[in-house]
Amino acid sequence: MSDLKVEDFCPFCCPSHNGGSTPIPTTGKTIFYTSSQQDKMAKMEVKTSLLDDMIGVGDMVLLEPLNEDSFINNLKKRFDHNEVYTYIGSVVISINPYRSLPIYTPEKVEEYRNRNFYELSPHIFALSDEAYRSLRDQDKDQCILITGESGAGKTEASKLVMSYVAAVCGKGAEVNQVKEQLLQSNPVLEAFGNAKTVRNDNSSRFGKYMDIEFDFKGDPLGGVISNYLLEKSRVVKQPRGERNFHIFYQILSGASEEFLCKLKLERDFSRYNYLGLDSARVNGVDDASNFRTVRNAMQIVGFMDHETQSVFEVVAAVLKLGNIEFKPESRANGLDESKIKDKNELKEICELTGIDQSVLERAFSFRTVEAKQEKVSTTLNVAQAYYARDALAKNLYSRLFSWLVTRINESIKAQTKVRKKVMGVLDIYGFEIFEDNSFEQFIINYCNEKLQQIFIELTLKEEQEEYIREGIEWTHIEYFNNAIICDLIENNQTGILAMLDEECLRPGTVTDETFLEKLNQVCATHQHFESRMSKCSRFLNDTSLPHSCFRIQHYAGKVMYQVEGFVDKNNDLLYRDLSQAMWKANHSLIKALFPEGNPAKINLKRPPTAGSQFKASVATLMKNLQTKNPNYIRCIKPNDKKAAHIFNEALVCHQIRYLGLLENVRVRRAGYAFRQPYEPCLERYKMLCKQTWPHWRGPARAGVEVLFNELGIPEEEFSFGRSKIFIRNPRTLFKLEDLRKQRLEDLATLIEKIYRGWKCRTRFLLMKKCQVVIASWYRRYSQQKKYQKIKSSAITVQSYIRGWKARKVLRELKHLKRCNEAATVIAAYWHGTQARRELRRLKDEARNKHAIAVIWAFWLGYKVRREYRKYFRANAGRKIYEFTLQRLMQKYFLEMKNKMPSLSPIDKNWPARPYLFLDSTHKELKRIFHLWRCKKYRDQFTDQQKLIYEEKLEASELFKDKKALYPASVGQPFQGAYLEISENPKYKKLKDAVDEKIIIAEVVNKINRANGKAASRIFLLTKNNVLLADQKSGTIKSEVPLGDVTKVSMSSQNDGFFAVHLKEGSEAASKGDFLLSSDHLIEMATKLYRTTLSQTKQKLNIEISDEFLVQFKQDKVCVKFIQGSQKNGNIPTCKRKNNRLLEVAVP
Ligand SMILES: Nc1ncnc2c1ncn2[C@@H]1O[C@H](COP(=O)(O)OP(=O)(O)O)[C@@H](O)[C@H]1O
Ligand SMILES: [Mg+2]
Repeated sequence: MSDLKVEDFCPFCCPSHNGGSTPIPTTGKTIFYTSSQQDKMAKMEVKTSLLDDMIGVGDMVLLEPLNEDSFINNLKKRFDHNEVYTYIGSVVISINPYRSLPIYTPEKVEEYRNRNFYELSPHIFALSDEAYRSLRDQDKDQCILITGESGAGKTEASKLVMSYVAAVCGKGAEVNQVKEQLLQSNPVLEAFGNAKTVRNDNSSRFGKYMDIEFDFKGDPLGGVISNYLLEKSRVVKQPRGERNFHIFYQILSGASEEFLCKLKLERDFSRYNYLGLDSARVNGVDDASNFRTVRNAMQIVGFMDHETQSVFEVVAAVLKLGNIEFKPESRANGLDESKIKDKNELKEICELTGIDQSVLERAFSFRTVEAKQEKVSTTLNVAQAYYARDALAKNLYSRLFSWLVTRINESIKAQTKVRKKVMGVLDIYGFEIFEDNSFEQFIINYCNEKLQQIFIELTLKEEQEEYIREGIEWTHIEYFNNAIICDLIENNQTGILAMLDEECLRPGTVTDETFLEKLNQVCATHQHFESRMSKCSRFLNDTSLPHSCFRIQHYAGKVMYQVEGFVDKNNDLLYRDLSQAMWKANHSLIKALFPEGNPAKINLKRPPTAGSQFKASVATLMKNLQTKNPNYIRCIKPNDKKAAHIFNEALVCHQIRYLGLLENVRVRRAGYAFRQPYEPCLERYKMLCKQTWPHWRGPARAGVEVLFNELGIPEEEFSFGRSKIFIRNPRTLFKLEDLRKQRLEDLATLIEKIYRGWKCRTRFLLMKKCQVVIASWYRRYSQQKKYQKIKSSAITVQSYIRGWKARKVLRELKHLKRCNEAATVIAAYWHGTQARRELRRLKDEARNKHAIAVIWAFWLGYKVRREYRKYFRANAGRKIYEFTLQRLMQKYFLEMKNKMPSLSPIDKNWPARPYLFLDSTHKELKRIFHLWRCKKYRDQFTDQQKLIYEEKLEASELFKDKKALYPASVGQPFQGAYLEISENPKYKKLKDAVDEKIIIAEVVNKINRANGKAASRIFLLTKNNVLLADQKSGTIKSEVPLGDVTKVSMSSQNDGFFAVHLKEGSEAASKGDFLLSSDHLIEMATKLYRTTLSQTKQKLNIEISDEFLVQFKQDKVCVKFIQGSQKNGNIPTCKRKNNRLLEVAVP
């Protein structure tokens, strides 16, 4: 593959690269190669290609010739010109410049924003933009894998990626807050998790993987941070020239006196055993100002004040733990014991953390081992006490760190549950080779092996495999697959980690040496494992390999590990007494850090070892990464001195080798820069060819073939796989893209043109339609107007003619009429004349006759008067008088005839008297008329009516003006039989007893003679008798023949009392007279009077007086009527006053 020339497959090379002389191959169709297009291409390249002003080559794929030297020279050349980024296809190589370059400005961000990956010179921003856009637009989760050794610039690269994404993604108050929190989590974690090492002044001592979550628009929603194995041994001991974690120095330098005092700390570093002294200050690092940055960042991330306070208290406690020292003390039983030298520090720690001093002191002196419900307490010797102290400090610190990560996650986690797109940024500790490499380095390097593995899997292997799968010819590229090293470490049975775990769990004495022995047995034959004691004893003479070491040939180089501490570190043992003491702390954070210290939750099971925990979390990470679209940044360290401008070729060469970058380029070059399944490819570019546009009916592959032939792309530029088209050179792709862009613009113009045409035509048609409608309306309207005008003119003309005709007729008629009238007038005048003449004649005749008559009369009169003159004077007066009187009487009667009043007897009208001399006549006439009309009225009556009126007349004669009761009775007809004796069966007995005709039957009140009280009786009047009967039984109580009734007495007042006086000595008179009261007194008295008269021919005496005497048995009692009160209404009351007087009060 190495003899492949760039020009061979690069039809678009600019003249500067083919020396300006190589003619552009013209094998293809014309479309790419017209001179105008070449110019155009050149112009486009000036603006938009990574090849512009290129130093060396920007993409290693274009390197010619390709070998290690040219590779390194290219990097060096670029590095010397401040070009720290170079591509291998889509992989970015980044060389640490160790100084700040002006290539991360906001202008740069804008420059790279939304640009094609290969458009501009290589930059980490181009990769970030590519990843972000394919996340946003193609909905692919991304991961950015940053690898390289310690100090190569991984952490810086990860921060650059994050800040670029933050700069280009959505804006807005809420989004900005999320971004700010995500970015500010870095300083916090760096302060607690980074430290100065010999390789890097700001070396990450933990692995970090951060998922940034976005919504569908590409706005950040939040993030999740995972941390991997903090190098906690650094807390208690640092190699020469290195420092503890930054935070310790930051507190001591940056905190105020007051705050330090609160934390019981002193500013002097040398006061603290845990702080390595030789490099406490780092050039260019301002711990004090960093402390302020950290506190500020903590605030932004959302730490509450009390939480920050607790965190620093824990940090202070860790620092002070290092100052606790122990001295040996021998006990009588020979056991070694330790004792705290100076309890002051312990006291302060306890005050700071709220732990009971005695509890902690005891935890440092004793160790309790629990096995099968038995507790055994053993004393700790000095070494064990120190071990316990350091274990506590390490655990406190590493747990605090994990708590910080959890706490930050709480703050930055996405608030919504909507589906998220994820961009993972992995910044894990780089490959490390120190003088003394221990368990931590082993773990770190294992992790790097795994990352290399995934890189190989996803790029090299995957690429090759895809070619095989697609049936594309492939020249195999040799590359080193480090799977064998991964297996050496992680194999579940024979892996080093499995051996270590087995050793740790094995009963009996376990030491680092026994572990090494075991390794020697199991791994001795492994190619990548070396030790002095390995079976084949190849290395027995290798003095560079001490006895207590083993060496692994990592992909990045050989590393010798000191086996010392492996077992302990893997066990990661913290005495239970200590965790229980911590749990008892009166400090909520510390208590929360040691949940296993809770005696209620005692768990006798061993916790998983550090190695197996790490292995599991690395496996999870790898699984996670495999689901995402990887983007690689491979960081290279140019020198070991952390210095700018120094490019150590040997060092770089080493890194290039172990990173397999050359193989990477080879694979890339042997292969194809771009591949895509046929369907989407055809879909994307089909508009570039007439046959395929707008629809291709055949299979997609054939369509792509036609398309590429039509476009004249040189055959070596592409290959047809089984399901994909492979394009060798990126620029072919760019050209396709440009053509597509151009074509899209044309299509857009076409669409626009058609749309505009359609719009105009539609508008035109509409207007035309409107015009027709308007014209028709207008024509109708104008015709209508014209018609109306003609019509009105015709009418006018017509009316004029008619008028003229009419006037003519009228004139004729008028003439005729005038003629007629004239004739009539003439006739009338004529007749008039005639008539007047006749009248005059008649008048004359009549006058003459009258005159004759008058004259005759006068003559006769004269004659008569002369004749009778002698008689006339004696009788004339009388005769005239009689004649006049006669005439007046005649007139009077005639007038009276017309003024006669009605025939009603009660009509009082009568015409006025005309002449005084007729006064008597007038009255007489009135009387006669009244009598006459009364007679007339009477003549109408029947006999029965006459009888009634007779009776009424009788009553009038008897009572009118005598009794006050009378007027009320006039209107009441006299009924007589009020009680229907014959009909009512109740009175049958009474009827049987009386066989005569009954005149009156009525209920009366009989007044009791003794007390004046009334009792009801039936009063019967027959032709001959008066009877009183009981009202209820009907039995007759008294019967008086009419002959025995002498008198009836009554008052003149308005009452119904009356007394019937009986003949003295008669049979009926024995009981005395009757004093009765009735509502029909007038009728009764009248009837009694008339009956008595007709029977006895004698007039009954009716006495009307207000005081009369009544015979009661022997006595005569006076009945007196007085004007009484209205107490009882209108009913008169009767009262016996004394023996002689009965008083009736009449209201
Ligand atoms: N792109 C860069 N520009 C300037 N200096 C850088 C850059 N990348 C790294 N450095 C310098 O290198 C040091 C180590 O980088 P760092 O990212 O911490 O390494 P790593 O994480 O790989 O161990 C940084 O502290 C910084 O001084
Ligand atoms: Mg780092």
